Amino acid sequence: MNILHTSFECYPIAKVGGLADVVGALPKYQNKMELTTSVITPFYDNQFVKDSKLKTIYKSAIQLGEIRYPYVIEKIKSPDIGFNAYLVYIKGVLDRPNVYNYEDDAERCITFQLAVLDWITSLDEMPDVVHCHDHHTALIPFLMAHTKPYLNLQEIPTVLTIHNAQYQGQLSYEKLHYLPAFDKEKIGMLDWDNCINPLASGIKCAWRVTTVSPSYMEELQENANGLEGLLRHERKKCIGILNGIDTYTWNPETDPMVISNYQESNVVSGKNENKKWICNHFDLDIDKPLFGFIGRLVGEKGADLLPDIIKESLRTTDINIMILGSGNPETEEQLKALQEKFISRYNTYIGYDEKLSHIIYAGVDFLLMPSRVEPCGLNQMYALRYGAIPIVRRIGGLKDTVIDVGEEGFGICHDNASVQDVCYAIERAVNLYDDQIKYRNTQKQVMKIDHSWDRSAHQYIAIYKSLIS
Ligand code: ADP
Ligand code: GLC
Repeated sequence: MNILHTSFECYPIAKVGGLADVVGALPKYQNKMELTTSVITPFYDNQFVKDSKLKTIYKSAIQLGEIRYPYVIEKIKSPDIGFNAYLVYIKGVLDRPNVYNYEDDAERCITFQLAVLDWITSLDEMPDVVHCHDHHTALIPFLMAHTKPYLNLQEIPTVLTIHNAQYQGQLSYEKLHYLPAFDKEKIGMLDWDNCINPLASGIKCAWRVTTVSPSYMEELQENANGLEGLLRHERKKCIGILNGIDTYTWNPETDPMVISNYQESNVVSGKNENKKWICNHFDLDIDKPLFGFIGRLVGEKGADLLPDIIKESLRTTDINIMILGSGNPETEEQLKALQEKFISRYNTYIGYDEKLSHIIYAGVDFLLMPSRVEPCGLNQMYALRYGAIPIVRRIGGLKDTVIDVGEEGFGICHDNASVQDVCYAIERAVNLYDDQIKYRNTQKQVMKIDHSWDRSAHQYIAIYKSLIS
C-alpha cells in the first residue's frame, strides 16, 4: 500500500510545532509496517533544504486564477530521513525562510495543493491513499472529489488529520477563482459561515477524519471554534487516534543534542549533568527542583498565565523555573521583564531552539503544561521519556497520556488553566520531590512508558485498509 502524506511541516525538513514531529515520525513507523509511505511538503529556503541533496523528478505548471506558476518536484536523496520525501518548489511563493505568517498564506497553501495534485495525475503509480494534515492541505479532498482537472483522482481515498481545529484557514469568496472549475452545486462543500473554510471542507469531503487524541475528538463535538456542529454531523467518519513519538529521535540514551546521555539505570547522574548545564548557562540554582516550560507562547498553551505563575510559585515554594518559547509579544515582554526580578531563580530564552529544547527535557525535574486546549501535546511524552514528571491540565491528549500520582499514576494533574490550580500543582510536585525515594521511583516508572508510534501507527493502517477495500 502506497500512502502519500501532504503537510506544510515535517521534521527535520521544516518545523514550527508538533505537526512537524508527527509528520516526520508516523511515516517512518508506517514504513516498517508493510506500507510505502511518502511525504510531500513545500520547498523552503531553510538550512535543512540547503544542506540536502535533491533530485528533480518532475516539472510542470499550475494555474492560480490568471497566474501561471511553474513548479518543480524535488526528491530528497540525502540525508535519509526514513521515508520518501518530496518538496514542491514554486519560485517566489513557497521558497521562503518561514513556514507561515505571510500575507499570502492562503495563495501559498492553494498553489502547493494544486501542484501536489497535478504531480499525482502524472504518476504511473498513484498513491492508494492521500493523507492530509491540518487546514493547509485540507482542500485536497474537495479538489480530488469535485474539481474538473482532478476527476481522475476521485476514486483515491483521502484521510484528513486535524492537529488543531483552532486554525481553519478561512478565505473570502473573492479568492474562489483560484480553484479549478467545479460544478457550482458543490459550493456548499467549501463553505462554512459564508466563507471558504478549508478545514470545514476537509471534514466534509475527506473519506475519514481523524484527530490526534480520543479526548480531543470528544471535546471537538462541544467546542471546535465554530465547527462543533459539523463535527457532530460527520461523527461517523471521525476517530481520535493518540499521537505517538519518534523514539529514535527522542531517546535520552542516544540523543546527540543533549549534554550527557543517560538511561533508566543512570538517570540521576545523567539528568544532573544536563541540569548543571542549564543552571550554569541560565544562572539557576542546581540544588533546587527545576521546573520547565517549552512551547508556543499563546493562549491555547496557557502561556499568558506563566508570568503570574512564576511570581506566585517563587514566592511560596523553593524552586527554579526555566522557560523556552516564543509567540505573543506581550507575554514575551512580561517573561523577559521577570528575569531581573528573579535572578538565579528563574530564566527564559525567548525564541525557537531545537537543541535547547532537548537539553531542557533532559535537565528539568518537572515540565509544566497548563494548556487551555491541547489536541494531543507531545511535550509531556518527551518529558516522560526523558524522566521529567509532567504537570498537566486535564484536557485533550494530556488527559489521555498523564495519570495523577494520587490515582496510582506518575504525573501531576490539575483541572483548570488558572494560576491558582497550577501553583497548587507545583506545591504537590515539590512534596513529591521532597520524598526522594518516591520521586526517583516515579522517574524510573515514567521512562518505561511506551509512547512510540508502534502503539498507534497500526490504527491509521486499519483505516487505510478499510478505505481501500
Ligand atoms: P504544538 O504543536 O501545539 O506547538 P506539541 O506539544 O504538539 O505542541 O509540540 C510542540 C513541539 O514543538 C515539541 O517538539 C516542542 O519541543 C517544540 N517546541 C515548541 N516551542 C519550541 C521552542 N521555542 N524551541 C524549540 N522547540 C519548541
Ligand atoms: C497541534 C496541537 C498539539 C499536537 C500537535 C501534533 O499543533 O496543538 O496538541 O500535539 O498538533 O498533532
